Amino acid sequence: MELVGEEEIQEVLEVLRSGYLFRYGQATGPYADARFLAKVCQCEQEIARYAGVRYAVAVNSGTSALLTALAALGIGPGDEVIVPGFTFIAGISSIVYARAIPVLAEIDRTFNLDAEDVKAKITPHTKAIMAVHMMGNPARLNELKKIADDHAVALIEDCAQAFGASYRGRVAGSIGRMGTYSFNVYKTITSGDGGMVVTDDEDLYRRAFAFHDQGHSPLRTGVEIGERPFFGLDFRFTELQAAVLLAQFRKLPRLLERLRANKKRYKELISDLPGLEFREITDEQGECSTMLTLILPSAEIARKIAAELGTKVVARAGWHVYNNMEQLMQQRTPTAVPCPFSCFGRYAGEDREIRYWQGMLPRTDALLERALNISIGVSDPGLSSGYGVTIRDDAESVERHAMGFRRAAEKYLR
Ligand SMILES: Cc1ncc(COP(=O)(O)O)c(C=O)c1O
Repeated sequence: MELVGEEEIQEVLEVLRSGYLFRYGQATGPYADARFLAKVCQCEQEIARYAGVRYAVAVNSGTSALLTALAALGIGPGDEVIVPGFTFIAGISSIVYARAIPVLAEIDRTFNLDAEDVKAKITPHTKAIMAVHMMGNPARLNELKKIADDHAVALIEDCAQAFGASYRGRVAGSIGRMGTYSFNVYKTITSGDGGMVVTDDEDLYRRAFAFHDQGHSPLRTGVEIGERPFFGLDFRFTELQAAVLLAQFRKLPRLLERLRANKKRYKELISDLPGLEFREITDEQGECSTMLTLILPSAEIARKIAAELGTKVVARAGWHVYNNMEQLMQQRTPTAVPCPFSCFGRYAGEDREIRYWQGMLPRTDALLERALNISIGVSDPGLSSGYGVTIRDDAESVERHAMGFRRAAEKYLR
């Protein structure tokens, strides 16, 4: 959001002046409308090309993108989807609204899914593994893809926090059967809100498109009575949002370059502190560098340093930790019958009680109690990543900030 400027303004003005804000229109043929600029289509094409896949569907949020991916894959009642215990609630919510069961798995030192625990959590009901690339760092995709393939389940990549990341030369989102992005204000690039689903599979694309817009075929041109495969919803993106996103997308290389340089410098300035470790990055050249995550020698030291900086350890820092998700812990659905939790047995053909409890992922808890996040590129006091430098910060302010961290940490790291 800090880099929204003249380029975005010009794009939006172009759409407003055209007087045509809807994603559909005809550029050619008897019903051609010269006002239609097709910015949503352009976004889809540019981002699909960038990701190296054939198809993309723009939607109104990252949450909608996840629900759309689950619908495209036909995931629903009686199915289980494995998700990490350190994630954003949207992945879990989308599984619940697909009427499937979220199965929590541990994270490892990448702060993403632990492949061994994923393997242990697979059951005959598992339909997908949702890898969430937290804080710009892709999960161990080679291992997760192999597990998914070995068990004939889908790998979904939730890249909401990792637009711009790549893994071993491939763009994050293009490795699983479906990838999703978010463009809300905290993401690498933003259109205020927004999202996208990408896939290389034509059938999944057609299903995703139908789900995002009332069952219609891609780029709907008519009423299509009799042709619609199933009920869809309305998660459409608008020409105005697409205009902002196009301008933002062009800034991506510059933005990543800046994030990477700032993070590298910050890390160099603190890496000699005794006992200080960093989370494992799966692809040093490919991660987004939006967060420098530290692992301290103990939970107590981590808490003391966090207090010194006016922030919190990751375990206590708000809403990305399963323990803090009361909706999940207490299975709070908007209906009196708490489906899918109470209905799983009926569809899965086995009588099993679904339960979640605080502390059910001890390795995740222990790691997050020792972890501290330094935000690179965005500082949002009061939320999950209070302590950090902004994208506008120059080398000098990054150094000043890192020195501030050193002073606080040195009191406890010897
Ligand atoms: C990991 C993750 N998944 C999904 C989402 C949902 O995206 P949106 O806010 O665009 O619905 C977010 C947003 O913060 C996220 O961080």
